[in-house]
Amino acid sequence: MSRNQLPPQGHNWAKVKARMQVAQKDDCPWHSERMFIGGSYFGGEDVLQVANEAYQMYINCNGLYAAKIFPSLVRYETDIVGALLEMINAPIGASGSITTGGTESLIMAVKTAYAWAHDRRPGASAPEIVVPHAAHPAFDKAAHLMGIKVVRLTESLDFRADVKALEHTINNNTIMLAASAPSYPFGVTDAIPEIAALAEKHDLWLHVDACHGGFIFPFARKLGYAIPDYDFAIPGVTSISVDVHKLGYANKGVSALLLCDAYLETYQRYTFEDWPSGTYSTQNLMGSRSGGGLASAWAVLNYLGEEGYLERVGKILETRERFLDGIRGIEGLESWGDPEAYLIAFGSSAFDIFAVDEGMTERGWLSSRLIDPPAIHLFLDISHAAIVDDYLEDLAEVVKTVKSGEIRSKEKGASYSR
Ligand SMILES: Cc1ncc(COP(=O)(O)O)c(C=O)c1O
Repeated sequence: MSRNQLPPQGHNWAKVKARMQVAQKDDCPWHSERMFIGGSYFGGEDVLQVANEAYQMYINCNGLYAAKIFPSLVRYETDIVGALLEMINAPIGASGSITTGGTESLIMAVKTAYAWAHDRRPGASAPEIVVPHAAHPAFDKAAHLMGIKVVRLTESLDFRADVKALEHTINNNTIMLAASAPSYPFGVTDAIPEIAALAEKHDLWLHVDACHGGFIFPFARKLGYAIPDYDFAIPGVTSISVDVHKLGYANKGVSALLLCDAYLETYQRYTFEDWPSGTYSTQNLMGSRSGGGLASAWAVLNYLGEEGYLERVGKILETRERFLDGIRGIEGLESWGDPEAYLIAFGSSAFDIFAVDEGMTERGWLSSRLIDPPAIHLFLDISHAAIVDDYLEDLAEVVKTVKSGEIRSKEKGASYSR
């Protein structure tokens, strides 16, 4: 990276802004119905306005000092956590806290399990966690930070955790099992009742990563969709993560780590006294953070209410069905698994799916890929309802050109975040 000097004197804002607008020229739009890459989670212009205005109201308030000087932020956190606990069938006495994202929720889940195991499983001298093949890498990041060994399963049978293999990996050093509801790659939920039974049998912590399902499944069930069991209704589930900044429609920076019993908070909290400023005690990884995200979450939850979420979830799931029907109707294409939320992966045993991906990109459709098995990966939100037919028409034409050998893929890899 090259070194750069600050300008000797500052410029006026108009000039700085103009330069930023030039810098932005090559960026993709933050949201477009021709884009299927997660990150925007569009819930409607009105929802966006509510989230942004609420964010602005708290943009400069430091969430680190909420308990000291911003009681309204403490109230928002309590309200949001309370609503989430209700949505995921938490038992009386459950608790939770807000983090800045799914990654932080997973890191804190591992940290909490690690501290819990110190008391509960003292025989685990070299702690290990067991993670399904398709689980999010934030589990590995967490373990890396804490010097914990990760046993990542090597296969996703039916695109889910291989429960038999998982059971075989459990040993005296195992402290935690992980499961996804659903996983990012396939949008399919692991067999959580079976995994929870193993957790109970071996006295292990089980974290369910419902970062995607948290704001879909409770509403999908109410709409009559068959949703697999995934939440605190299952004995043996110890903690659950839910991202409010995904389909909860909060601005970025809001997730929740929910615990089946409030006493587990003592393992989550980090407290330090031995410095001149007195007690430093937090439940999160982060220190300073904007209160904007939390404020936007509270605002959107109250703006949409249950009805608003039901309406949006209904629309997304109908859209997903239209995509899946269309994709499966094109000869040679198949969806990898039966997705339960808004993530779809499809590929082909007959032809090069990456060539299809490149053909679709040329036509202005932007999506991600999977490498194992090779797939085009779609991330749906309500805006995609308007373009299903256009997308499928292009897809059918591109598949034809790939089958005829007219186009071949130039790039074989996939990348999640860079
Ligand atoms: C299943 C799953 N868990 C956790 C995360 C991490 O979330 P974040 O990007 O908010 O840190 C993601 C991100 O997409 C995810 O797909």
